[in-house]
Amino acid sequence: MKKNNIENQILVIFGSNGDLAKRKLLPAIFQLFLDNLLPERFAVVGAGSQEKDEVAYRADVREALSLFAARAVSENDARVGDFLEKIFYKKVNNQTEEDFGLLKEYIEELSSRLDITKNIVYYFSIPPFLYEVVAANLVKYGLNTENDGWKRIIVEKPFGYSYDTAIDLDNKLHNGFHEDQIYRIDHYLGKETVQNIMVTRFYNGFFEPIWNRKYIDRIEITASEKIGVGNRGGYYETSGAMRDMIQNHLLQVLAVVAMEPPAIFDSDSIRNETVKVLQAMRPIKANEVADYVVRGQYISGQVGDEVQKGYRQETGVAPNSKTETFVALKVFIDNWRWGEVPFYIRTGKQLPERVTEVVIHLKPAPHQLFKQLCLTELNNMIILRIHPDAGVAIDFGMKIPGAGYKVQNVNMAFHYSDLADKKISEAYERLLLDCMIGDSTLYARADAVKASWKFVDPILQAWKTNPDIPLYFYEAGTWGPTESNTLFGDKFIKWRQPFEKFKTE
Ligand code: BG6
Repeated sequence: MKKNNIENQILVIFGSNGDLAKRKLLPAIFQLFLDNLLPERFAVVGAGSQEKDEVAYRADVREALSLFAARAVSENDARVGDFLEKIFYKKVNNQTEEDFGLLKEYIEELSSRLDITKNIVYYFSIPPFLYEVVAANLVKYGLNTENDGWKRIIVEKPFGYSYDTAIDLDNKLHNGFHEDQIYRIDHYLGKETVQNIMVTRFYNGFFEPIWNRKYIDRIEITASEKIGVGNRGGYYETSGAMRDMIQNHLLQVLAVVAMEPPAIFDSDSIRNETVKVLQAMRPIKANEVADYVVRGQYISGQVGDEVQKGYRQETGVAPNSKTETFVALKVFIDNWRWGEVPFYIRTGKQLPERVTEVVIHLKPAPHQLFKQLCLTELNNMIILRIHPDAGVAIDFGMKIPGAGYKVQNVNMAFHYSDLADKKISEAYERLLLDCMIGDSTLYARADAVKASWKFVDPILQAWKTNPDIPLYFYEAGTWGPTESNTLFGDKFIKWRQPFEKFKTE
């Protein structure tokens, strides 16, 4: 990462005592500090509802770092103290207007004491229902005005709960902040390997010419997770896999996989192209939902030596919950490049592996001269592995040595870890730094968020209103409901089992 035009600034984290701040944000800021990427004069202000002073908050931050940035701390113990000197705390109850007046005074005092210009990033690491409240309170006290330094807000997902609520939230945020000040974070876009999809496609002469309907048969996008919902049952009940993973992360990945090359590589040009993909997704009508989308929910199952509980037994989950913990769907992008090429997207919790990957299945050669050993592997594949063992692999057929012409699929893989001297940055490091620099390329623009809600909304509505659409149950530790294979409409085609080909050894 480059330290580009980074101005002195203050980062205010609302929800500074919460899980996200402790697990992701503070470790990311610490890493930026270790990499000397933070501006010379810089302060983090934790804004939380708990009454505590700077000393107590610094102790909390130290503890969070030792838990969630253990390696960085053990390798750089001597620098933790210097980092903590940049950490401050102000009690703010997000729903109490006057607290924002006090926050303003605090920021003014801090900025003059530390001689930091009032360039401020406000990070909304708070429950979504508070986004508009905090934004309005900031506006009320002029904490959004840019006469004394720029102001930016970072808004976490979910951005809205539906198409209408997303528009409503957007309007409310624009009531005081213009689009250039609003950074809608989607941490998938911060992943090095997602950005590498653009480089793979647009740098290499041998990928781009075949990246279209003429040569590609279908594309699979999988994000499987080994964990269940854990202690997030309450949140997950209002979200489900569709809102939690598909509406944002996976549709953004789809957009990057399917976009046209931008004329120039800047924020607007890139985002102009990704939004076109989302706008071109063929809507799934209410009466088509059962044919195009399969939803599932995990039930108790044996995973290794342990019996995992079912979703309905998780804390905060209703005993008769119909929330989906697995979704698989088939999508078409109605444009010139992709006409009639199906994109299959799947995500789920309590699956056997944690894998995120995009698999491009190429059409077979026009005429089969050689006998394949394995009929299910007729296609060549390009595998873009986002997690784990990040990299790119291609699968193709080779002659098995010996008599005759028998063909077997082989695999050539590039592993990011082979770029040994480069550490892959965490998504939050990259995204925080981008916002601090004022680069919104990897943040979701309002039109993209709206387009993806527009696609997802009718499916959610159909699930809600039509009890005939099945919710399939799958045992924890399996690859989700087998019904998800019916989306392919061909008994010989199934979801690729990740790890089949892309091995780490
Ligand atoms: C989050 C979701 O946005 O992304 C979680 O809320 C999910 O439910 C997580 O586990 C997955 O992110 P990653 O980076 O671990 O693939």
